[in-house]
Amino acid sequence: MRIATPRRYLMCPPAHFRVSYCINPWMDPTKPVDPVLALFQWEDLRDRYRALGHTVEVLDPLPGLPDMVFAANGATVVDGRVLGARFANPERTAEAPAHLAWFRARGFTEVREPEHVNEAEGDFAVTASWLLAGQGFRSSPLAHDEAQEFFGRPVISLELTDPRYYHLDTALAVLDDARNEIMYYPGAFSPGSRAVLARLFPDALLATGEDAAVLGLNAVSDGRHVLLPRAATGLREPLRARGFEPVPVDLSELHKAGGSVKCCTQELRPAAG
Ligand code: ARG
Repeated sequence: MRIATPRRYLMCPPAHFRVSYCINPWMDPTKPVDPVLALFQWEDLRDRYRALGHTVEVLDPLPGLPDMVFAANGATVVDGRVLGARFANPERTAEAPAHLAWFRARGFTEVREPEHVNEAEGDFAVTASWLLAGQGFRSSPLAHDEAQEFFGRPVISLELTDPRYYHLDTALAVLDDARNEIMYYPGAFSPGSRAVLARLFPDALLATGEDAAVLGLNAVSDGRHVLLPRAATGLREPLRARGFEPVPVDLSELHKAGGSVKCCTQELRPAAG
């Protein structure tokens, strides 16, 4: 029996969302995007979290930052401690201070402005025992050490090798953060990282290339409900077989920027006790 635990998320509405530049293979500025539909789909995701009993905080979107909707990239919060982001691409640089300001205004006291490039939960995933950390396209391996020191959690560095899976959260999702349960697409990782994942997570749910290619791994779990892209149909049965409840959502417009459910969702993990 899977138990959902109430979560607190930070999201940012796609008020200024467009695909106006290209910093990953999914983005094609010549392809049309429907901004009204993008907002409608985002609101649906937000409302589903709330209907499941989760708290959703909202960050004000800023003009000129079309990717700010991908709030997962703006900061990493573990045990109430906030590690800010430092973006690899200049197009997104200004998102990081907006996140830091939000945390400071809300009374978070342990807030670190990072020294090294890290795209936050795009490349960091929190499990019961480890902080999994992606590198290869965006976050610097130096940021992995910085995160380990700041959070005091052992970091497992993983190397991404396929440009379509430029962030860890496009290739791996935590299903149960109290029990080290994950799902991932092995094809996104270097042979050594694949071996590390197999060793640490021998029972992981392994996704197919088809489900990965519709960003099916860009999912959010509360321990029971797994919100994931609607097109990732192949993941539903294996999730159900493990006792999870798949909740398909349609984020077709944000997909055109290379993001989906998890990218839109930053988790604010409280201090214990
Ligand atoms: N266009 C954005 C970028 O390439 C998408 C970010 C998606 N976010 C994520 N957590 N994977 O930076």
